[in-house]
Amino acid sequence: MHDELVLDTPVVRGFVAAVQAAIADSASPEAACDAIRPRFADLLADDGWLPEEYQAPVPESGMGGGIGQWLLYRADDGSLSLFSLVVPSGSATPVHDHLAWGLVGLYRGTQDEEVYAERDGGLELAERRELRPGDFYALIPPRDDIHRVRTTSPEASVSIHLLTNDTGCVWRHTFDPDSGAREPFRSGYVNVDCDDDDAAA
Ligand SMILES: [Fe+2]
Repeated sequence: MHDELVLDTPVVRGFVAAVQAAIADSASPEAACDAIRPRFADLLADDGWLPEEYQAPVPESGMGGGIGQWLLYRADDGSLSLFSLVVPSGSATPVHDHLAWGLVGLYRGTQDEEVYAERDGGLELAERRELRPGDFYALIPPRDDIHRVRTTSPEASVSIHLLTNDTGCVWRHTFDPDSGAREPFRSGYVNVDCDDDDAAA
């Protein structure tokens, strides 16, 4: 297997190896998330491992709003990805899903997160939470899979995503929170292409 280690450092290598071992040894996504939690907390607490370039907003990005999605690592079979999501001050993501389980945590800045539940063909606001650096949550579809985050700090927020798909390259959805209408959505990554870019509609 030729995984793509975009940020090839001992910290990222060690983290990914630990995650892969935890997934292999776990009987369920819940168990895997629990096993990964201590390593993920360490990553969020470590000030030095993420270069500035991966903490930069990106004008004209696929997410809109100057939001940058930077790939750090992905498995070549599409089973795992690690990326940073940079949301400028005052910007918000669209309401979106992920279609895979994993862990998401805040590294820099502060965010408000709104979690939605699908009910009767529409969306209902299920939870609103404030996130500070070091806070993180497990995301296990269908629960908690649909959300929107908004940066509330004067500086951009940077969150770290560990998800069990190639999140930037899979076709997922954005939602109109009022009507519940969904649209196909592929965010892409700022720094790498998706293999089938030509086939993308
Ligand atoms: Fe998200």
